[in-house]
Amino acid sequence: MIDQATIDRIRDAANIVDVVSDFVTLRRRGVNFVGLCPFHADKSPSFYVSPSKNICKCFACGGGGAPVNFIMQHEQLDFFDALRYLAKKYNIEVREKELTDQEKAIRSDRESMFIVNNWAQNYFSTQLWEHREGASVGLRYFRERGFRDDMIRKFQLGYSLDEWDALYKQATRSGYKKEFLEKTGLVIAYENGNVNDRFRGRVMFPVHSLSGKVVAFGGRILKKDEKTAKYINSPESEVYHKSNELYGIFFAKSQIVKTDRCYLVEGYTDVISMHQAGIENVVASSGTALTLPQIRLIHRFTENITVLYDGDAAGIKAALRGIDLLLEEGMNVKVVLLPDGEDPDSYARGHNATQFADFIRQNETDFVRFKTKLLLSDAAGDPIKRAALINDVIRTIALIPDSILRALYIRECSSMMEIGEKDLLAKVNQILLSREEKRPASSHPSPETGATQPAGVEQNQPSSLPPAAMPANGTSTARSPFEAEELALLRYVVRYGERVLYSYTDEQTNEEIRIYVAQYIRSELEQDDMTFLNPLYKTMLDEAAMHCGEENFVASKYFLYHMEALVGKTATDLISEKYQLSKYHAKFREIKLEEDLLLQLVPRDLLGFKDACIRQKINDIAHRIKELQQTGDMEQVIPLMQEQDELNVIKKNLNKMIGERIILKM
Ligand code: CTP
Ligand code: MN
Repeated sequence: MIDQATIDRIRDAANIVDVVSDFVTLRRRGVNFVGLCPFHADKSPSFYVSPSKNICKCFACGGGGAPVNFIMQHEQLDFFDALRYLAKKYNIEVREKELTDQEKAIRSDRESMFIVNNWAQNYFSTQLWEHREGASVGLRYFRERGFRDDMIRKFQLGYSLDEWDALYKQATRSGYKKEFLEKTGLVIAYENGNVNDRFRGRVMFPVHSLSGKVVAFGGRILKKDEKTAKYINSPESEVYHKSNELYGIFFAKSQIVKTDRCYLVEGYTDVISMHQAGIENVVASSGTALTLPQIRLIHRFTENITVLYDGDAAGIKAALRGIDLLLEEGMNVKVVLLPDGEDPDSYARGHNATQFADFIRQNETDFVRFKTKLLLSDAAGDPIKRAALINDVIRTIALIPDSILRALYIRECSSMMEIGEKDLLAKVNQILLSREEKRPASSHPSPETGATQPAGVEQNQPSSLPPAAMPANGTSTARSPFEAEELALLRYVVRYGERVLYSYTDEQTNEEIRIYVAQYIRSELEQDDMTFLNPLYKTMLDEAAMHCGEENFVASKYFLYHMEALVGKTATDLISEKYQLSKYHAKFREIKLEEDLLLQLVPRDLLGFKDACIRQKINDIAHRIKELQQTGDMEQVIPLMQEQDELNVIKKNLNKMIGERIILKM
């Protein structure tokens, strides 16, 4: 963790124009700069950079924020790594927060392993480029395969000498402990005291984590040797869980976001060759079936995945396996079969980027269609096989969480397989229901996917589910019924939270008491036992109210540099000029004067929020009264009616106050 003083220093140093310019070409427009948005396929510049506010924002896709948010999104880093990135850019020394002894021990173990891996990567690369054996055997191998030097450097490829303990000796000489060499699997220590290198006489592929750290290595033999495995890989360790990593993700992530698609291939060499051909949104599962953590890793960046397979029989079989898990996670899966005898590596070597992209575009098939077609030709003329195939396809369709998509597939497959749509629907629903029964009682259906809803029921209606309220981001996504009113208030909190709304002199102590904007809003709500119903907004209000008296506290800065990404995004939205003003603000044309009018605006919008809450309450009560009247339970109705009367009086008073406020201001 980085200490707060360092965060403040980074925050003050980082200049948004500077930071964005490293990735986006900006042109001046008035007081701002504009450019093409790096977060979506932007045709005309919708990306605004405001030097005065030190934020950027895309008015088409909503991406952007303070410098740290921009880097988080663009480089797909977490908050602290984004800060470290900025610190490096501005030559700021990063002081890390003190950790407990236990944290230190765990951390230092992992860190030592990263350090050792990093050293080893350097060592292997040095051998490749500078050692006689490395150059004449390893480098020559890569070049003969057609890898360009810039790709060999980019992927930090290397070579391990064909000796028993060359790395171990060099590492020890350089002061690295055997413990960590062993823990990372770079060496193997035997009981008799012998220590050998794991990788010997192999070309080396470092495996990078999402943030670019070397977590493991794969070493490939050079000769065709039936007895030795083609690849040796680092063992599982504290820093390497094979099933959590994807080869190439570090080099692919920003391009995956940009193209909104991820290509999935099998091997190290496929990834590198595709990069060399200019296709960078590609990762490899390293020869094993995809795991759930790997799928989720991809899903963080896109919902669209295209699986590239060798065009031989084994490749086709492989294409059918492992895809169910992708569908189940709600990914849109497409499949491309390469021409017979080709894998992505060989195909990329024989074609340029445009040809490869064209081939993919022309041969990309939706997975369900692909499977259905394939099985159909397989089962031609064989009714038993046909029945099995239909069941197989139905099971696949039943995995798709989105009910509308499911219904569309049912329609399409019904015509492909010449089976009534109703019959297919019934079958799919049957599977969904039986799965529902198998589910343990405590687990509930995922609200986002509605996985347990049978597809047929609402087939012709738009989904009854509300649109996902906010991007899943670790923070609660619950919305308030008073979003507009809460946002209107939160806007003051973010923009002016630390300002003194008014002050007065305490008669007894003769002290000046200052009331800050954030504090005022919170205590006004508290007085009426109210609070924001959107949990995110509530947290933001609480934090601002807590800090607003502190020296140097500036609410906008504080929120823009919040470690919770969703907070940063909300703040950006509220600070950027083009934010859609609520209906309350729209009444005031002279928005420029806003900050001078806080004493009128804030109380007025507070009343607006209270008014909305009261209306809701009155509605609820009216609803309850109606219900009770139907059941004839009149005894309970009377107190409700009294409550209703009281609320109506409050409402009237509120309206009167709101009216006065407006007149007063005009
Ligand atoms: N693999 C492995 N161990 C093996 C064979 C394969 O770990 N004994 C993994 C590697 O990650 C490899 C991937 O499976 O990259 C795909 O295997 P394959 O297609 O055989 O290897 P390529 O990387 O394509 O190597 P090459 O093209 O040089 O044969
Ligand atoms: Mn290959």
